[in-house]
Amino acid sequence: MDLPFKLSKFIFCALLLINSILCDTYYPVNRFAHSSVKIDNRLFILGGNTGEITSKSYELFYLDLSIPFNNTNLPWKLVDGGDLPEYIYSSTAVSDKFTIYLIGGSIKNQFYIYNIYNTTWDTPGTGIRSIFPNRRNMDGVIDEKGNIYLFGGYNVTDITKEMYLFNTVAMTFTSIVTSGDVPLQCAEYTANLLSSGAIIYIGGVEKLNESASLTFVNMNKIKLFDTYKSKWTNFTATGEDVDSRQYHTSILTPNGYIIIFGGCKLDNTSVSPNIAMLHTNTYEWTIPSNSEENSPPSIWGHTANLHSDYMIITFGFDIDAQLYNQKVYLFNITSNKWVASFNPSVIDNPTPKSKALVIGLATGGAVIALILIVAFVIVIYKKRETILRISGNNT
Ligand SMILES: *[C@@H]1O[C@H](CO)[C@@H](O)[C@H](O)[C@H]1NC(C)=O
Ligand SMILES: *[C@@H]1O[C@H](CO)[C@@H](O)[C@H](O)[C@H]1NC(C)=O
Ligand SMILES: *[C@@H]1O[C@H](CO)[C@@H](O)[C@H](O)[C@H]1NC(C)=O
Ligand SMILES: *[C@@H]1O[C@H](CO)[C@@H](O)[C@H](O)[C@H]1NC(C)=O
Ligand SMILES: *[C@@H]1O[C@H](CO)[C@@H](O)[C@H](O)[C@H]1NC(C)=O
Ligand SMILES: *[C@@H]1O[C@H](CO)[C@@H](O)[C@H](O)[C@H]1NC(C)=O
Ligand SMILES: *[C@@H]1O[C@H](CO)[C@@H](O)[C@H](O)[C@H]1NC(C)=O
Repeated sequence: MDLPFKLSKFIFCALLLINSILCDTYYPVNRFAHSSVKIDNRLFILGGNTGEITSKSYELFYLDLSIPFNNTNLPWKLVDGGDLPEYIYSSTAVSDKFTIYLIGGSIKNQFYIYNIYNTTWDTPGTGIRSIFPNRRNMDGVIDEKGNIYLFGGYNVTDITKEMYLFNTVAMTFTSIVTSGDVPLQCAEYTANLLSSGAIIYIGGVEKLNESASLTFVNMNKIKLFDTYKSKWTNFTATGEDVDSRQYHTSILTPNGYIIIFGGCKLDNTSVSPNIAMLHTNTYEWTIPSNSEENSPPSIWGHTANLHSDYMIITFGFDIDAQLYNQKVYLFNITSNKWVASFNPSVIDNPTPKSKALVIGLATGGAVIALILIVAFVIVIYKKRETILRISGNNT
Protein backbone atom coordinates (compact mmCIF):
# COMPACT_ATOMS: atom_id res chain seq x y z
CA MET A 1 0.00 0.00 0.00
CA ASP A 2 1.55 3.29 -1.14
CA LEU A 3 -0.77 5.54 0.81
CA PRO A 4 1.86 6.58 3.40
CA PHE A 5 4.17 7.48 0.49
CA LYS A 6 1.44 9.51 -1.25
CA LEU A 7 0.64 11.20 2.00
CA SER A 8 4.20 12.08 2.78
CA LYS A 9 4.57 13.36 -0.78
CA PHE A 10 1.46 15.47 -0.31
CA ILE A 11 2.72 16.84 2.99
CA PHE A 12 6.11 17.52 1.45
CA CYS A 13 4.51 19.43 -1.44
CA ALA A 14 2.24 21.34 0.93
CA LEU A 15 5.30 22.33 2.97
CA LEU A 16 7.11 23.42 -0.18
CA LEU A 17 4.12 25.49 -1.22
CA ILE A 18 3.86 27.13 2.21
CA ASN A 19 7.60 27.69 2.17
CA SER A 20 7.46 29.34 -1.22
CA ILE A 21 4.63 31.58 -0.08
CA LEU A 22 6.39 32.59 3.13
CA CYS A 23 9.94 32.68 1.86
CA ASP A 24 9.45 33.99 -1.65
CA THR A 25 13.17 34.22 -2.31
CA TYR A 26 14.08 35.27 -5.81
CA TYR A 27 17.37 34.31 -7.42
CA PRO A 28 18.57 37.13 -9.68
CA VAL A 29 21.05 36.52 -12.47
CA ASN A 30 24.59 37.86 -12.24
CA ARG A 31 25.12 41.31 -13.68
CA PHE A 32 27.21 44.46 -13.77
CA ALA A 33 26.63 48.10 -14.74
CA HIS A 34 23.23 48.04 -12.98
CA SER A 35 21.89 50.78 -10.68
CA SER A 36 20.53 50.59 -7.17
CA VAL A 37 18.47 52.83 -4.90
CA LYS A 38 17.35 52.38 -1.33
CA ILE A 39 13.83 53.28 -0.28
CA ASP A 40 13.19 52.56 3.41
CA ASN A 41 14.07 48.90 3.95
CA ARG A 42 14.27 47.95 0.32
CA LEU A 43 17.40 48.05 -1.81
CA PHE A 44 16.09 48.07 -5.38
CA ILE A 45 18.26 46.79 -8.22
CA LEU A 46 17.62 48.27 -11.64
CA GLY A 47 18.75 46.74 -14.88
CA GLY A 48 22.36 45.81 -15.46
CA ASN A 49 24.27 44.04 -18.16
CA THR A 50 23.21 40.38 -18.05
CA GLY A 51 23.19 39.86 -21.80
CA GLU A 52 26.38 37.94 -22.19
CA ILE A 53 25.59 35.29 -19.59
CA THR A 54 21.95 34.47 -20.04
CA SER A 55 19.27 36.40 -21.77
CA LYS A 56 18.43 40.02 -21.10
CA SER A 57 16.95 40.55 -17.66
CA TYR A 58 14.11 43.04 -17.09
CA GLU A 59 13.06 42.14 -13.53
CA LEU A 60 12.72 44.72 -10.79
CA PHE A 61 13.74 43.22 -7.47
CA TYR A 62 15.06 44.27 -4.11
CA LEU A 63 17.08 43.12 -1.14
CA ASP A 64 14.83 43.01 1.91
CA LEU A 65 16.64 45.00 4.62
CA SER A 66 13.92 44.44 7.21
CA ILE A 67 15.16 40.96 8.11
CA PRO A 68 18.55 39.57 9.17
CA PHE A 69 20.59 37.72 6.57
CA ASN A 70 24.11 36.64 5.82
CA ASN A 71 25.79 37.05 2.50
CA THR A 72 25.37 33.40 1.58
CA ASN A 73 21.62 33.60 2.07
CA LEU A 74 20.23 36.76 0.52
CA PRO A 75 16.56 37.80 0.85
CA TRP A 76 16.03 38.96 -2.73
CA LYS A 77 12.38 39.69 -3.54
CA LEU A 78 10.90 40.03 -7.00
CA VAL A 79 8.47 42.91 -7.59
CA ASP A 80 5.50 41.39 -9.36
CA GLY A 81 4.57 43.43 -12.41
CA GLY A 82 7.59 45.70 -11.88
CA ASP A 83 9.49 44.68 -15.00
CA LEU A 84 11.55 47.44 -16.57
CA PRO A 85 10.20 48.77 -19.88
CA GLU A 86 13.53 48.13 -21.60
CA TYR A 87 16.78 46.24 -21.17
CA ILE A 88 18.83 48.96 -19.45
CA TYR A 89 22.39 49.20 -18.15
CA SER A 90 24.99 51.91 -17.50
CA SER A 91 22.20 54.23 -16.38
CA THR A 92 21.95 56.22 -13.18
CA ALA A 93 19.16 55.95 -10.63
CA VAL A 94 18.11 58.19 -7.76
CA SER A 95 15.05 58.10 -5.54
CA ASP A 96 12.94 60.20 -3.25
CA LYS A 97 10.44 58.86 -0.67
CA PHE A 98 8.57 56.65 -3.08
CA THR A 99 9.78 57.32 -6.59
CA ILE A 100 12.68 55.89 -8.55
CA TYR A 101 14.15 57.94 -11.41
CA LEU A 102 16.09 55.78 -13.86
CA ILE A 103 18.00 57.99 -16.26
CA GLY A 104 20.15 57.42 -19.33
CA GLY A 105 22.07 54.27 -20.04
CA SER A 106 22.72 51.70 -22.75
CA ILE A 107 22.70 53.67 -25.99
CA LYS A 108 19.36 55.47 -25.88
CA ASN A 109 17.83 58.55 -24.28
CA GLN A 110 16.10 56.48 -21.60
CA PHE A 111 14.24 58.23 -18.81
CA TYR A 112 11.83 56.31 -16.60
CA ILE A 113 9.97 57.07 -13.41
CA TYR A 114 8.65 54.35 -11.11
CA ASN A 115 6.28 54.87 -8.23
CA ILE A 116 6.79 52.03 -5.72
CA TYR A 117 3.21 52.27 -4.44
CA ASN A 118 1.27 52.26 -7.67
CA THR A 119 3.94 50.09 -9.32
CA THR A 120 3.96 51.60 -12.76
CA TRP A 121 6.81 52.66 -14.97
CA ASP A 122 6.18 56.06 -16.49
CA THR A 123 8.02 58.47 -18.74
CA PRO A 124 8.16 62.16 -17.82
CA GLY A 125 6.11 63.27 -20.82
CA THR A 126 7.10 63.34 -24.44
CA GLY A 127 8.30 66.94 -24.14
CA ILE A 128 11.07 66.02 -21.71
CA ARG A 129 11.81 62.73 -23.36
CA SER A 130 12.43 64.44 -26.66
CA ILE A 131 14.88 66.98 -25.23
CA PHE A 132 16.62 64.56 -22.88
CA PRO A 133 19.98 63.85 -24.50
CA ASN A 134 21.44 60.45 -25.03
CA ARG A 135 23.72 59.80 -22.04
CA ARG A 136 25.24 56.89 -20.14
CA ASN A 137 27.80 56.32 -17.36
CA MET A 138 26.77 59.34 -15.30
CA ASP A 139 26.21 59.39 -11.56
CA GLY A 140 23.15 61.49 -10.78
CA VAL A 141 22.35 63.04 -7.41
CA ILE A 142 19.04 64.32 -6.05
CA ASP A 143 18.69 67.05 -3.43
CA GLU A 144 15.92 67.35 -0.87
CA LYS A 145 13.98 69.78 -3.07
CA GLY A 146 13.74 67.11 -5.77
CA ASN A 147 16.40 68.49 -8.14
CA ILE A 148 18.40 65.86 -9.99
CA TYR A 149 21.86 66.93 -11.21
CA LEU A 150 23.35 65.05 -14.17
CA PHE A 151 26.89 65.76 -15.29
CA GLY A 152 28.93 64.57 -18.29
CA GLY A 153 28.79 60.92 -19.30
CA TYR A 154 29.05 59.46 -22.79
CA ASN A 155 26.75 60.23 -25.70
CA VAL A 156 26.67 57.92 -28.72
CA THR A 157 30.00 59.06 -30.08
CA ASP A 158 31.92 60.87 -27.38
CA ILE A 159 32.42 61.91 -23.77
CA THR A 160 30.52 65.03 -22.67
CA LYS A 161 30.64 67.80 -20.04
CA GLU A 162 27.20 69.40 -19.74
CA MET A 163 25.40 69.77 -16.43
CA TYR A 164 21.67 69.08 -16.63
CA LEU A 165 18.99 69.65 -14.04
CA PHE A 166 15.76 67.69 -13.83
CA ASN A 167 13.28 69.20 -11.42
CA THR A 168 11.05 66.35 -10.26
CA VAL A 169 8.44 68.71 -8.77
CA ALA A 170 7.92 70.98 -11.77
CA MET A 171 8.93 68.13 -14.14
CA THR A 172 11.25 70.42 -16.06
CA PHE A 173 14.53 69.58 -17.67
CA THR A 174 17.19 72.26 -18.28
CA SER A 175 20.83 72.62 -19.17
CA ILE A 176 22.67 74.66 -16.49
CA VAL A 177 25.07 77.44 -17.39
CA THR A 178 27.96 76.94 -14.99
CA SER A 179 30.89 79.15 -13.95
CA GLY A 180 34.22 78.72 -12.15
CA ASP A 181 36.69 75.89 -12.86
CA VAL A 182 34.41 74.34 -15.48
CA PRO A 183 35.64 70.75 -15.88
CA LEU A 184 36.65 68.82 -18.96
CA GLN A 185 34.49 66.17 -20.61
CA CYS A 186 34.12 63.45 -17.97
CA ALA A 187 32.41 60.09 -17.33
CA GLU A 188 32.48 57.13 -14.95
CA TYR A 189 33.15 59.35 -11.93
CA THR A 190 31.20 59.15 -8.67
CA ALA A 191 29.07 61.94 -7.21
CA ASN A 192 27.87 62.70 -3.70
CA LEU A 193 25.84 65.62 -2.44
CA LEU A 194 27.31 67.20 0.70
CA SER A 195 25.21 68.96 3.35
CA SER A 196 26.73 72.26 2.15
CA GLY A 197 24.79 71.91 -1.10
CA ALA A 198 27.91 71.07 -3.10
CA ILE A 199 28.30 67.93 -5.18
CA ILE A 200 31.71 66.28 -4.97
CA TYR A 201 32.91 64.44 -8.09
CA ILE A 202 35.68 61.84 -7.80
CA GLY A 203 37.68 59.90 -10.37
CA GLY A 204 36.51 58.59 -13.73
CA VAL A 205 37.85 59.40 -17.16
CA GLU A 206 38.25 62.67 -19.01
CA LYS A 207 39.54 64.09 -22.24
CA LEU A 208 42.15 66.85 -22.17
CA ASN A 209 41.00 68.19 -25.53
CA GLU A 210 38.73 67.17 -28.42
CA SER A 211 41.43 65.17 -30.19
CA ALA A 212 43.00 63.56 -27.11
CA SER A 213 42.19 60.00 -26.07
CA LEU A 214 40.59 59.19 -22.72
CA THR A 215 42.78 59.64 -19.65
CA PHE A 216 42.11 59.06 -15.99
CA VAL A 217 41.12 61.84 -13.62
CA ASN A 218 43.76 62.03 -10.88
CA MET A 219 42.11 60.95 -7.60
CA ASN A 220 43.62 64.00 -5.92
CA LYS A 221 41.87 66.37 -8.34
CA ILE A 222 38.54 66.82 -6.66
CA LYS A 223 35.75 68.70 -8.43
CA LEU A 224 33.08 70.47 -6.44
CA PHE A 225 29.86 71.85 -7.92
CA ASP A 226 28.00 74.39 -5.80
CA THR A 227 24.32 73.72 -6.57
CA TYR A 228 23.25 77.12 -5.17
CA LYS A 229 25.65 79.19 -7.29
CA SER A 230 26.01 76.75 -10.23
CA LYS A 231 29.74 77.21 -9.77
CA TRP A 232 32.60 74.72 -10.10
CA THR A 233 35.72 74.72 -7.89
CA ASN A 234 38.75 72.39 -7.83
CA PHE A 235 40.40 71.03 -4.74
CA THR A 236 43.60 69.08 -4.37
CA ALA A 237 43.39 66.10 -2.05
CA THR A 238 46.37 64.81 -0.03
CA GLY A 239 47.13 61.70 2.03
CA GLU A 240 47.46 58.08 0.91
CA ASP A 241 48.03 57.22 -2.75
CA VAL A 242 44.83 56.07 -4.41
CA ASP A 243 44.94 54.63 -7.92
CA SER A 244 42.87 56.45 -10.52
CA ARG A 245 39.82 54.43 -11.48
CA GLN A 246 36.54 54.16 -13.34
CA TYR A 247 33.40 52.08 -12.60
CA HIS A 248 34.00 52.53 -8.84
CA THR A 249 31.37 53.51 -6.25
CA SER A 250 31.16 56.02 -3.43
CA ILE A 251 28.97 56.61 -0.41
CA LEU A 252 28.88 59.56 1.98
CA THR A 253 28.95 58.68 5.69
CA PRO A 254 27.10 60.71 8.34
CA ASN A 255 30.44 61.85 9.79
CA GLY A 256 31.60 63.42 6.55
CA TYR A 257 33.69 60.79 4.81
CA ILE A 258 33.32 59.58 1.27
CA ILE A 259 34.14 55.88 1.03
CA ILE A 260 35.10 54.73 -2.43
CA PHE A 261 35.22 51.06 -3.36
CA GLY A 262 36.44 49.02 -6.33
CA GLY A 263 36.63 50.14 -9.91
CA CYS A 264 39.17 49.32 -12.59
CA LYS A 265 41.88 50.70 -14.82
CA LEU A 266 41.31 51.61 -18.47
CA ASP A 267 42.16 48.03 -19.47
CA ASN A 268 39.66 46.67 -16.89
CA THR A 269 42.39 45.42 -14.52
CA SER A 270 42.32 45.94 -10.76
CA VAL A 271 43.13 49.08 -8.79
CA SER A 272 44.69 49.64 -5.38
CA PRO A 273 43.60 50.15 -2.69
CA ASN A 274 40.24 48.43 -3.04
CA ILE A 275 38.73 50.78 -0.48
CA ALA A 276 39.70 54.30 0.56
CA MET A 277 38.07 57.20 2.35
CA LEU A 278 38.23 60.93 1.73
CA HIS A 279 37.45 63.42 4.47
CA THR A 280 35.18 66.06 2.95
CA ASN A 281 36.58 68.91 5.09
CA THR A 282 40.31 68.21 4.98
CA TYR A 283 40.35 66.45 1.57
CA GLU A 284 42.69 63.83 2.94
CA TRP A 285 42.67 60.24 1.68
CA THR A 286 43.08 57.44 4.23
CA ILE A 287 42.85 53.67 3.93
CA PRO A 288 40.71 52.16 6.70
CA SER A 289 43.04 50.02 8.81
CA ASN A 290 40.86 46.92 9.16
CA SER A 291 39.58 46.91 5.64
CA GLU A 292 41.93 44.32 4.14
CA GLU A 293 40.62 41.46 6.28
CA ASN A 294 37.84 39.50 4.49
CA SER A 295 38.03 42.01 1.66
CA PRO A 296 35.90 41.25 -1.41
CA PRO A 297 37.71 40.60 -4.69
CA SER A 298 38.55 43.44 -7.05
CA ILE A 299 35.29 44.38 -8.71
CA TRP A 300 33.93 47.10 -10.96
CA GLY A 301 30.49 47.99 -12.29
CA HIS A 302 28.94 47.15 -8.89
CA THR A 303 26.79 49.49 -6.78
CA ALA A 304 27.12 50.76 -3.20
CA ASN A 305 24.41 52.03 -0.87
CA LEU A 306 24.51 53.01 2.76
CA HIS A 307 21.99 51.57 5.20
CA SER A 308 22.69 52.40 8.84
CA ASP A 309 26.23 51.10 9.54
CA TYR A 310 26.35 48.99 6.39
CA MET A 311 27.80 49.89 3.04
CA ILE A 312 26.09 47.34 0.82
CA ILE A 313 27.90 46.33 -2.37
CA THR A 314 25.94 44.42 -5.00
CA PHE A 315 26.94 42.47 -8.14
CA GLY A 316 29.63 43.89 -10.48
CA PHE A 317 32.39 42.28 -12.52
CA ASP A 318 34.82 40.20 -10.45
CA ILE A 319 38.28 40.88 -11.92
CA ASP A 320 40.01 38.17 -9.86
CA ALA A 321 37.64 35.40 -10.98
CA GLN A 322 36.82 37.04 -14.35
CA LEU A 323 33.09 36.59 -13.96
CA TYR A 324 29.90 38.54 -13.52
CA ASN A 325 29.26 38.74 -9.82
CA GLN A 326 26.16 37.53 -8.01
CA LYS A 327 27.29 38.47 -4.53
CA VAL A 328 26.61 41.09 -1.91
CA TYR A 329 29.34 42.42 0.37
CA LEU A 330 28.76 44.27 3.63
CA PHE A 331 31.15 46.82 5.12
CA ASN A 332 30.55 48.19 8.62
CA ILE A 333 31.48 51.89 8.33
CA THR A 334 31.84 52.26 12.11
CA SER A 335 34.27 49.40 12.68
CA ASN A 336 35.68 49.66 9.11
CA LYS A 337 35.38 45.89 8.76
CA TRP A 338 33.91 43.65 6.09
CA VAL A 339 31.21 41.57 7.76
CA ALA A 340 29.27 38.50 6.63
CA SER A 341 25.93 39.12 8.24
CA PHE A 342 23.32 41.82 8.22
CA ASN A 343 21.30 42.41 11.33
CA PRO A 344 18.53 45.01 11.20
CA SER A 345 17.97 44.79 14.97
CA VAL A 346 21.16 46.76 15.72
CA ILE A 347 19.94 49.54 13.49
CA ASP A 348 19.00 52.72 15.43
CA ASN A 349 15.60 53.10 13.88
CA PRO A 350 14.22 49.60 13.64
CA THR A 351 10.99 49.03 11.81
CA PRO A 352 8.72 46.49 13.50
CA LYS A 353 9.39 42.89 12.53
CA SER A 354 7.32 41.96 9.57
CA LYS A 355 3.85 41.26 10.90
CA ALA A 356 2.99 39.45 7.71
CA LEU A 357 5.79 36.98 8.33
CA VAL A 358 4.60 36.23 11.86
CA ILE A 359 1.01 35.81 10.72
CA GLY A 360 2.26 33.73 7.80
CA LEU A 361 4.28 31.47 10.06
CA ALA A 362 1.33 31.01 12.41
CA THR A 363 -1.00 30.24 9.49
CA GLY A 364 1.60 27.91 8.02
CA GLY A 365 1.91 26.10 11.36
CA ALA A 366 -1.86 25.73 11.63
CA VAL A 367 -2.10 24.39 8.07
CA ILE A 368 0.68 21.85 8.70
CA ALA A 369 -1.00 20.75 11.94
CA LEU A 370 -4.29 20.33 10.08
CA ILE A 371 -2.62 18.30 7.31
CA LEU A 372 -0.94 16.07 9.90
CA ILE A 373 -4.23 15.49 11.76
CA VAL A 374 -6.04 14.67 8.51
CA ALA A 375 -3.20 12.33 7.51
CA PHE A 376 -3.29 10.66 10.91
CA VAL A 377 -7.06 10.16 10.70
CA ILE A 378 -6.76 8.73 7.15
CA VAL A 379 -3.97 6.35 8.20
CA ILE A 380 -5.98 5.18 11.21
CA TYR A 381 -9.07 4.78 9.05
CA LYS A 382 -7.16 2.81 6.38
CA LYS A 383 -5.51 0.62 9.04
CA ARG A 384 -8.95 -0.11 10.49
CA GLU A 385 -10.25 -0.89 6.99
CA THR A 386 -7.32 -3.30 6.41
CA ILE A 387 -7.94 -4.98 9.75
CA LEU A 388 -11.64 -5.31 8.91
CA ARG A 389 -10.80 -6.71 5.45
CA ILE A 390 -8.34 -9.19 6.98
CA SER A 391 -10.85 -10.29 9.56
CA GLY A 392 -13.50 -10.41 6.80
CA ASN A 393 -11.26 -12.80 4.78
CA ASN A 394 -11.05 -15.02 7.78
CA THR A 395 -14.77 -15.46 7.98
C1 LIG B 1 23.80 31.80 6.57
O1 LIG B 1 22.40 31.60 6.78
C2 LIG B 1 21.96 30.28 6.49
C3 LIG B 1 20.45 30.23 6.63
O2 LIG B 1 19.96 31.16 7.56
C4 LIG B 1 22.65 29.31 7.42
O3 LIG B 1 22.26 28.00 7.10
C5 LIG B 1 24.17 29.43 7.25
O4 LIG B 1 24.83 28.62 8.17
C6 LIG B 1 24.61 30.87 7.47
N1 LIG B 1 26.01 30.97 7.14
C7 LIG B 1 26.85 31.64 7.89
C8 LIG B 1 28.26 31.69 7.40
O5 LIG B 1 26.51 32.23 8.91
C1 LIG C 1 1.04 56.32 -10.49
O1 LIG C 1 2.13 57.18 -10.32
C2 LIG C 1 2.39 57.99 -11.43
C3 LIG C 1 3.66 58.74 -11.16
O2 LIG C 1 3.64 59.38 -9.93
C4 LIG C 1 1.22 58.91 -11.71
O3 LIG C 1 1.48 59.65 -12.85
C5 LIG C 1 0.00 58.06 -11.93
O4 LIG C 1 -1.11 58.90 -12.08
C6 LIG C 1 -0.22 57.13 -10.77
N1 LIG C 1 -1.31 56.23 -11.08
C7 LIG C 1 -2.24 55.93 -10.22
C8 LIG C 1 -3.28 54.97 -10.69
O5 LIG C 1 -2.29 56.42 -9.09
C1 LIG D 1 28.57 63.93 -28.35
O1 LIG D 1 29.41 64.73 -27.55
C2 LIG D 1 30.43 65.40 -28.25
C3 LIG D 1 31.34 66.08 -27.27
O2 LIG D 1 30.63 66.74 -26.28
C4 LIG D 1 29.80 66.37 -29.24
O3 LIG D 1 30.80 67.02 -29.98
C5 LIG D 1 28.89 65.58 -30.18
O4 LIG D 1 28.21 66.47 -31.03
C6 LIG D 1 27.87 64.78 -29.38
N1 LIG D 1 27.14 63.93 -30.27
C7 LIG D 1 25.82 63.90 -30.29
C8 LIG D 1 25.21 62.95 -31.25
O5 LIG D 1 25.15 64.60 -29.56
C1 LIG E 1 40.76 73.23 -12.18
O1 LIG E 1 40.07 72.58 -13.24
C2 LIG E 1 40.28 73.14 -14.51
C3 LIG E 1 39.42 72.38 -15.47
O2 LIG E 1 39.63 71.01 -15.35
C4 LIG E 1 41.75 73.06 -14.87
O3 LIG E 1 41.94 73.68 -16.10
C5 LIG E 1 42.59 73.73 -13.79
O4 LIG E 1 43.94 73.57 -14.05
C6 LIG E 1 42.24 73.17 -12.44
N1 LIG E 1 42.94 73.89 -11.39
C7 LIG E 1 43.56 73.27 -10.39
C8 LIG E 1 44.18 74.17 -9.39
O5 LIG E 1 43.60 72.07 -10.29
C1 LIG F 1 45.45 67.37 -26.91
O1 LIG F 1 46.01 66.72 -25.80
C2 LIG F 1 47.08 65.85 -26.13
C3 LIG F 1 47.46 65.11 -24.86
O2 LIG F 1 47.71 66.01 -23.81
C4 LIG F 1 48.21 66.66 -26.72
O3 LIG F 1 49.27 65.78 -27.08
C5 LIG F 1 47.72 67.39 -27.95
O4 LIG F 1 48.73 68.24 -28.44
C6 LIG F 1 46.49 68.22 -27.61
N1 LIG F 1 45.93 68.75 -28.84
C7 LIG F 1 45.49 69.97 -28.93
C8 LIG F 1 44.90 70.34 -30.23
O5 LIG F 1 45.56 70.77 -27.99
C1 LIG G 1 36.13 46.66 -20.32
O1 LIG G 1 34.82 46.21 -20.11
C2 LIG G 1 33.84 46.89 -20.89
C3 LIG G 1 32.49 46.38 -20.47
O2 LIG G 1 32.41 44.99 -20.61
C4 LIG G 1 34.08 46.64 -22.35
O3 LIG G 1 33.16 47.36 -23.11
C5 LIG G 1 35.49 47.08 -22.70
O4 LIG G 1 35.78 46.73 -24.03
C6 LIG G 1 36.51 46.42 -21.77
N1 LIG G 1 37.80 46.98 -22.04
C7 LIG G 1 38.87 46.23 -22.16
C8 LIG G 1 40.14 46.97 -22.46
O5 LIG G 1 38.86 45.01 -22.04
C1 LIG H 1 29.48 48.08 13.42
O1 LIG H 1 30.59 48.11 14.23
C2 LIG H 1 30.41 48.82 15.46
C3 LIG H 1 31.75 48.89 16.14
O2 LIG H 1 32.33 47.62 16.27
C4 LIG H 1 29.36 48.13 16.28
O3 LIG H 1 29.14 48.83 17.49
C5 LIG H 1 28.06 48.11 15.48
O4 LIG H 1 27.07 47.39 16.19
C6 LIG H 1 28.30 47.45 14.15
N1 LIG H 1 27.09 47.66 13.36
C7 LIG H 1 26.35 46.66 12.95
C8 LIG H 1 25.15 47.06 12.18
O5 LIG H 1 26.66 45.50 13.15
